[in-house]
Amino acid sequence: MISKKMEKAINTQMQREIYSASLYLAMSSYCSGLDLNGFANWYRIQAMEEMTHAMKFYDYIIEQSGKAIVPAVEQPPQEFDSPQATFEGALEHEKKVTAWINELVDIAIAEKDHATNIFLQWYVTEQVEEEAHANEILQKVKRIGTQGPGLFMIDQQLAQRVFTPPAAPAE
Ligand code: FEO
Repeated sequence: MISKKMEKAINTQMQREIYSASLYLAMSSYCSGLDLNGFANWYRIQAMEEMTHAMKFYDYIIEQSGKAIVPAVEQPPQEFDSPQATFEGALEHEKKVTAWINELVDIAIAEKDHATNIFLQWYVTEQVEEEAHANEILQKVKRIGTQGPGLFMIDQQLAQRVFTPPAAPAE
């Protein structure tokens, strides 16, 4: 069992992960509109990953006999200034998610909820990767530039990304 306070906080984060999926899908759609199919692929897979993050929270609430609240989906922005701007936005968004995950850990510690604290450590580690990936691509886009062959090269690299579902937890 988890406390009502913890349950509410995890439900809020589940909602934010679903919003993250929507945001990245909107970025994917924007990149498709520019014929940057590799960028679009990268964001589409990112959106799928965000749904796995949300479902992990969903499953945890249920497992702890709580009530998972399925949220209304807030509409993300549909237009962006440039492909570079999408990665600037993605990095900023991931920094916010990291701060929210850290807040959840703070609540778990304050509530002496060791099980939730352990559960949340997966997200703590994941956020290091999330920020690093967004930053790595942003730096590449900045360095190579957003015109011509450079952009095409990055687009080809981003086309290689495939969706890998997170490993199931050990029983
Ligand atoms: Fe679910 Fe990108 O953090």
